[in-house]
Amino acid sequence: MELRGLRDDVYRRPLGTALDRLGIGPGWTCVDVGAGGGDVTIALAEIVGRDGRVYAVDSDPTTRDEVAEAAATHSQVLAITQAGEDLRLPEAVDLAFCRFLLLHVVDPSVVMARMAAAVRAGGWVVAQEPITSAGRIGGEPFSMPSARHPDIGAVLPALARDAGLVTVDAWAEAPAGAGPGPVADYLKALTDVDPGDDPVVLPPLVTVVARVPTA
Ligand SMILES: C[S@@+](CC[C@H](N)C(=O)[O-])C[C@H]1O[C@@H](n2cnc3c(N)ncnc32)[C@H](O)[C@@H]1O
Repeated sequence: MELRGLRDDVYRRPLGTALDRLGIGPGWTCVDVGAGGGDVTIALAEIVGRDGRVYAVDSDPTTRDEVAEAAATHSQVLAITQAGEDLRLPEAVDLAFCRFLLLHVVDPSVVMARMAAAVRAGGWVVAQEPITSAGRIGGEPFSMPSARHPDIGAVLPALARDAGLVTVDAWAEAPAGAGPGPVADYLKALTDVDPGDDPVVLPPLVTVVARVPTA
C-alpha cells in the first residue's frame, strides 16, 4: 500500500475521534484544505451526504484528478486547485478541516486565519497536525526534518487562538505498534527506516476543535 493509504489506515482513529467530537451531520458544507488524495474529503462526504458539499482544496493541481477519481461516486465533492494562503470559496462553510497540512506551509498562521475566515459565524475549524519529534522507534526520538514545521502540533491551540477562534477541545493521539503491521509499514514508507521488531510510536497527531465566534 502506498503512503497515502497507509496514512489513512493508521490515522483513521484520530480522524474518527475528531468527527465524533464535532457532531458533523448530513447537509453540512465543508472544506478540506490540503486535501491531497482526498481521504479526509471522502470521509466528510460520506457524512454530509448528497445534501451537503465538500470542497477539496490543494495547491498541487495533480491532486485534483486523484480526488476526482476517489470521489467519483460523491457528487457533493468539488475539487479546487488553490493555496491555503489564498483560500476563497463560493460560500461560507460550516467546517474548515486540515490534516498534515500546516507542517508544510510557509506560514501556518496565515493558513489558519484563512480557514477561520472561510467559515460562517458559529461554524467550526478542525486542524490535525503532528509533533514529529515525539515519535519513537525503539524508545528513541525521530523527526521529520523535511517538513517546514515538523512540530507544529505542539503550538496548534495557540494558532487557533491567534486566528480569533474559540477552542472547544484539543488533544493528542498516536498510533503505536511493535513488529510487522500497518504502523511499521507507514514508518517505512515515510522515512525508509525499517523498525524490525522494535516498538514504534508514530508522531502524535494534535487535534484542535475550534469555533468561529458568533459575535
Ligand atoms: C501530507 S499531504 C496531506 C493530505 C491529506 N490532508 C491527508 O491528511 O491525507 C499534504 C498536502 O498539502 C498540500 N499543500 C501543501 N502546501 C499547501 C498550501 N500552501 N496550500 C494548500 N495545499 C498545500 C500538498 O500538496 C499535499 O497534498
